[in-house]
Amino acid sequence: MRILSGIQPSGSLHIGNYFGMMKPMIAYQEDNELYCFIVNYHAMTSVTDGEQLATGTLEAALDFLALGLDPDRAIFWVQSDVPEVTELTWILNNVTAVGLLLRSHSYKDKIAQGISPNHGLLSYPVLMAADILLYQSQKVPVGQDQQQHLEIARDIAIKFNHMFGETFVIPEAEINPNVPTVLGIDGRKMSKSYDNTIEIFAEEKVLRRKIGSIVTDSSPVAAPKDPDKCNLFAIISLFLTEGEKAELADHYRRGGLKYSDIKEKLFKLMWDFFAEARAKREEMQRNPNQVREILKAGAERARSKALPTLEMARKKVGLVY
Ligand code: ADP
Ligand code: TRP
Repeated sequence: MRILSGIQPSGSLHIGNYFGMMKPMIAYQEDNELYCFIVNYHAMTSVTDGEQLATGTLEAALDFLALGLDPDRAIFWVQSDVPEVTELTWILNNVTAVGLLLRSHSYKDKIAQGISPNHGLLSYPVLMAADILLYQSQKVPVGQDQQQHLEIARDIAIKFNHMFGETFVIPEAEINPNVPTVLGIDGRKMSKSYDNTIEIFAEEKVLRRKIGSIVTDSSPVAAPKDPDKCNLFAIISLFLTEGEKAELADHYRRGGLKYSDIKEKLFKLMWDFFAEARAKREEMQRNPNQVREILKAGAERARSKALPTLEMARKKVGLVY
C-alpha cells in the first residue's frame, strides 16, 4: 500500500504530533511504501519569517529521524525540494471550483481568528491535493481536522479524471480511531495555536515547568478523584501500560493522591521515554549537513516517482506540443 502524509514545520513538534501522527506514520514504514514529507510550502501560509521557516524545516526533519523514521525504508523529503508539485497545483487550480475552497472549514476558521486571507490560504487544499495526487497515493492517514481536505483532494482527482481521462489514483483518508487526541496542559486539544503544548524534545527545565503547569482541580489530597475527568491522567496514560494505567486509576478513586507526585512521575516517564531519541537527535544535530544530504536523497527518490505522473497530466491538459 502506498501511504503518504506530511507535517508542517511551523513550530516545535509536540507530543500531540508524536502520538497523533509521527508514531503511527513511522510504524507504517515496516510493511508499506511510505512517503513522509515536511510541508514547508504549506507552512508559508502561517510562517512569514524566512529564517524561522528554514530552521523549523531542519528541526522537524531531525525530530522525525531521531524518533525512528528510516530514510532507507521510507521516502522522506522536504516538499519544496520537489517543486514540480507547484506545477501540478497550477494544473489542478483549473479544475477546482472557488466555492469548494470557500467552504473549507480550516479556511473559515482562520478568517474567524482574524487572519487576513491571501490566495495561498485559499489555495492550501489544492496544494495538498497536488501533494497527494502527484505520488499516486492510495492511503493518507490524517487527523479528523484534515478529513475535509482529503475530500477536496478526492473531488479534484475525480473531476480531473472525468475531464481528461484516467490519470490519478483516488486517495482514501485513513482516520484511525485508535490514534488518541492528545490533550494540552490546559485540558483543550494540544495544539501550537493554543499555546498549550508539551514539546517532545523540550529541555529538562522547560519540560518540568510545562508539566508543572498542567491544570488540575483543587480537591484535597485525601479526596477520591475521577481519573476520566483529569487531563493529567490523560497525558500520563500515554506513557503507561494498560496495567499501570488501571493501577493509577484505582489510586485516583481511592483518594490520597498528590498531583505533584503524579507530575514528577510524568516528568520521569517522559524523559526516559524519549531518552534514546534525544541522544540520537543531539548526535545528528552536530552534523546538520548529513541531515540535508538525507533530505536531498529523499527528494530525488520522490521526484523520480512524481515525474511520470506530472508528465501524464501535462500531456492530458495539452502542455506537451
Ligand atoms: P497543531 O495543532 O499543533 O498546529 P498540526 O495541525 O500541524 O498541529 O498537526 C500536525 C499533525 O499532528 C496532524 O496529523 C494532526 O492530526 C496531529 N496532531 C496535532 N495535534 C494533535 C493532538 N493534540 N492529538 C493528536 N494528534 C494531533
Ligand atoms: N494539511 C496537513 C496538516 O496541516 C499537512 C499536509 C500537507 C498533508 N500536505 C499533505 C497531510 C498531504 C497529508 C497529505 O496537517
